[in-house]
Order: sequence, then structure tokens, then C-alpha cells
Amino acid sequence: MSALRPQPRPGVLDIDPYVPGKSTAPGVARVFKLSSNETPLGPSPKALAAYRAVADHLQDYPDGAATALREAIGRAFGLDPNRIVCGAGSDDLLNLLADAYLRDGDEAIHTTHGFLVYPIATLGSGAKPIVAPEKDHTADVDNILGKVTERTKVVFLANPNNPTGTYVPFDEVKRLQKGLPPHVLLVLDAAYAEYVRRNDYEAGIELVATSENVVMCRTFSKIYGLAAIRLGWMYGPAHVVEAINRIRGPFNVNGPAIAAGIAAIEDAAHQERSREHNTEWLEWLTEEIAKLGLHVTPSAANFVLIHFPHDKGRTAAEANAFLMKRGLILRQVGAYKLPHALRMSVGIEEANRLVVKALAEFLGKSK
Ligand SMILES: Cc1ncc(COP(=O)(O)O)c(C=O)c1O
Repeated sequence: MSALRPQPRPGVLDIDPYVPGKSTAPGVARVFKLSSNETPLGPSPKALAAYRAVADHLQDYPDGAATALREAIGRAFGLDPNRIVCGAGSDDLLNLLADAYLRDGDEAIHTTHGFLVYPIATLGSGAKPIVAPEKDHTADVDNILGKVTERTKVVFLANPNNPTGTYVPFDEVKRLQKGLPPHVLLVLDAAYAEYVRRNDYEAGIELVATSENVVMCRTFSKIYGLAAIRLGWMYGPAHVVEAINRIRGPFNVNGPAIAAGIAAIEDAAHQERSREHNTEWLEWLTEEIAKLGLHVTPSAANFVLIHFPHDKGRTAAEANAFLMKRGLILRQVGAYKLPHALRMSVGIEEANRLVVKALAEFLGKSK
């Protein structure tokens, strides 16, 4: 290795940079962005008002411990605020966890179509990402346990997962935790937990409370509609919280985010409206797209994964181009090893209907 210029840690240059969902379509004035799983209903008006009020105090540092926000989260979920750490999005927390618990030679496991930040954070820490195969686009506990070696330090599990929308029932998550050596940290990433309507699902709170090696990450970017201001939180055992508090930026959460986050988490009615909208349209989209003859992976989140045929004229790439021309921006998921699928976030009614209509036209099935 040349010593003639600074060198990043091994692994850093192996990272494929994360490519966010597109937000513009060339030559189209009116677009519907359905590419990043944002909420179509936007944030609570109370969160917006709280955000604006902070504009009068931009010269002041925020509370570095985000105490009032941790207390609001604690009240909403019945948790001890001392066991919560806030971050600039859950991405921040996922990277901090990798930074604190992984080093050169270690291994971190994620599943085939797991969220892309896991291999990025793993490689960035000098460790090796290990891929556990999924079954039916769903994480499989035995396959994850089968990948554990003496070098394994972290297991990342998105539940529900992005981009598949599938989830692992609580009994299976418990079996995973029981099967892991006690020094392996299980990171349960529950970014879409608020949308899940299944009685065998648990986001992670119970496992964190009853074990020493589980953390749960949550985000304000999805149902709370605050993706732009970057806000997430984690709940973990005291020893993990202490480690993350030592390495996080002293002011890693900004003042407007703290204010908006508190108002958002306290507006249960707005969350319920967003949840109801999602439940209704997730079901509708799943059914209507399936009627067109396309397979849709059953989703517990706020998006659907649509699988396309491989034959020319009907592929995912061609469908994507067709939809883009009409201002309907979905997400290509080749980077997730799903080159024949597109991911669509649940949108407002108009967007959902337009996508189904356009897909029917694309497949030559419009009435
Ligand atoms: C599974 C999963 N985890 C974490 C995140 C990151 O969320 P944040 O905006 O809080 O960084 C996302 C965003 O798409 C996600 O899908």
C-alpha cells in the first residue's frame, strides 16, 4: 500500500455508496415521489409549528443529551429515558453501533435483501459483512444462526425489512436472541414498526428489557414524517447506551429536530391517521397489482415490493422507465439483489390509483 498519501481504513473503499431514491423525473412537471418510504400525509402540524418556533433561537446549541425528547419518547412507549439515545436519523445510530462494537477481522451478519446501511456501516468499521440467505424474501433465523462464527460481533435485522416489507414474528426473534452467543449484539431495526398490524409482531422493546445483548433502533423519518430533519432513537441495555453516548457527536441531534420530534410523538391522532391510511392503501395496492398478474411480496410496512417478468417489454427496468415518464417515481432495487423488482411506497390515493392504472397500461391490460 502506498504511504505517499493518507489511506482510509481497509474496507472503506469497498463500500458501494448508498444511492437514495430519486425525487425528480426528467421533463415531468408534476411528480409523485414513491421511492423513499416517506409518509404521504406529511408531519403533524404541531411538529411543524414546534420546528418553526425554534427558528428564533438558531444561535443556541441544542441540549446535547436531548433530555426532553428522550423523556417524551419514554412517556409514549413506557420506557426509561436513561436507556434511550437519540441520533441524526437511525442511520447515525446504526453507524455508531458498528463503530463501537466492530473492528478489523470481526464479522457482522445481515440477510440477503437486508437494508443497505448494514454492509456500509460494517465495512466502514473495518469488519466483514456476512450475508445470511432469506427464505421467500424473509429473514430466516436458522440461516442467521448458521452464519455465526467466533468472529461474529453484531447481527443486524430490519423488522419489517426494507425493501421486502416482510417481518419476523416475535417468537422467532426470541429464538434468534437465545441462539446467539451472549457477546453478540443483536440490532433490531424497527424503522417501520408503527405500521405493522400483526398480533405476532413485537418491535424489540420486550427483548431489550429482558436481555443484555439487544438494541432496538427507531426512526422519525417514516410515520412521523420528519425525514428531512434526521431524527432517530435507540433503546438498549445500560452498558450499550453508555458506550454509544461516549462516541456520539456531543450535539448529534439538532434543536429543530428535538422540538419537532417531541410534538410529533405526542400527536397520537396524527400517527393513527397515517397508520389507517397506510393499512387501507397497502391492502388495496397489494390486491390491485396482484390482479394485473404481478407478484407482490406481502408487506407489513408502508411499501410494496413488485416483481416483474424477465421477458423483454415487461421488465422492472422498462416498467420503471414507463412510470417515470408519467411522473411516478418508484425505487429500483438492483442494489438489493432484486433486479427484477420495483419498490413502491404507499402514496396518497391519487398516486396509488395512477400507478395501478399505468401498470395496467404497461402490461397491455388497461380497460
Ligand atoms: C430498515 C431501515 N432502517 C433505517 C432507515 C433509516 O432511517 P433514518 O431516516 O432514520 O436514518 C431506513 C430508511 O429507509 C430503513 O428502511
